[in-house]
Amino acid sequence: MHSTGESRRADVVVVGAGVIGLSVAWRAARAGMSVVVADPEPARGASWVAAGMLAPVTEVQYGEEALLTLTLAAARRWDAFATELAAAAAPVGYRRTGTLLVAMDEGDRAWTEALYAYERELGLEVQWLTGRHARAMEPALSPGVRCGLWAPGDHQVHNRQLLGSLLAATGSSGVVLLEEAVDAVELAAGAVSGVRLASGDCVRSPAVVLAAGCRSALIGGLPAGALPAVRPVKGQILRLGPRGGVSPGPGPTRSVRAIVEGASVYVVPREDGTVVVGATVEEQGFDTSVTAGAVYELLRDARRALPALSEMALEEAVAGLRPGSPDNGPVVGPSPDVEGLVLATGHYRNGILLAPLTADAVVSAIEGRPQPPELEPFGPGRFTVPARPASFGAQ
Ligand code: GLY
Repeated sequence: MHSTGESRRADVVVVGAGVIGLSVAWRAARAGMSVVVADPEPARGASWVAAGMLAPVTEVQYGEEALLTLTLAAARRWDAFATELAAAAAPVGYRRTGTLLVAMDEGDRAWTEALYAYERELGLEVQWLTGRHARAMEPALSPGVRCGLWAPGDHQVHNRQLLGSLLAATGSSGVVLLEEAVDAVELAAGAVSGVRLASGDCVRSPAVVLAAGCRSALIGGLPAGALPAVRPVKGQILRLGPRGGVSPGPGPTRSVRAIVEGASVYVVPREDGTVVVGATVEEQGFDTSVTAGAVYELLRDARRALPALSEMALEEAVAGLRPGSPDNGPVVGPSPDVEGLVLATGHYRNGILLAPLTADAVVSAIEGRPQPPELEPFGPGRFTVPARPASFGAQ
């Protein structure tokens, strides 16, 4: 890419056009700001690979109560966000179908009983199901299902429709999308003054939002202490579809998370008859290869719970890189180190779910207004990364 020597100006530059960056850009433009977004591959990355689960209850992890408070608050924003985005651009495939968690063997039942007790203690909306009750709710479930949990508030959105809608909404709101990498954030007297693009061109701005997912710690120009402590956490995921237009039989009608001999797999059915099956959680650096073993294990476990999946066509196997942080929580808010820098990264397994809340929080930060209280434990500065060795990472 050749430099034109030009220098644009904007009220805010967003680094990264995944679900977080695009949501921030759309909300910022709606708030009256001029916005430039830069990403060499807009609407791809982890946001494209994701399943689109909006599932704070079935995805809860022991000891992550602060994150649960945040994800529950985020889930409450989805109705309005999906409605507003559909009105601004196009429907996003938001489906209020609830989620079933099912257990396949005695060990899985014990695990599910413990989870149920924990979730009840936390006051979550969840109901115990016998195997028979679970199958009555979802006839595609195997007779081998021992028991289950019903989480009526855990829904889904079609992540790829969502990205398409966000691209359209940002475009019609006047957001300028540059399909280019950002090499560095530029500083003047310790405050943000803009960004330098891979072409050498600059965009001048008093506010820069770092929303580059797992690559957010690789950006140049910032002091090491201001970089977010994020790393790639690989997830391999499959997409299945009807074979040659022939219905595969009674497929699942709602999202199912199955616990199969201690492993966890989720199955998310779309309105169009396709089904997403995911996902591995792997520490493999920036590797996005699909492995035979992962495809085998995901299908093996998914069909234990939902045998009809075996008859579907395997349409896609793909890997994405979640932006993981040391405590699995996002890193969102104004940087304590660099004036004008706002971080919006580290969303790990919850990027799609947290996008609306993050977008509004970032716009508040740019405008100097307070952050939502649920984000208080997840501010930048709670941990930092040491200076990056020259050999770290891949672009
Ligand atoms: N939230 C699902 C995943 O990260 O795999």
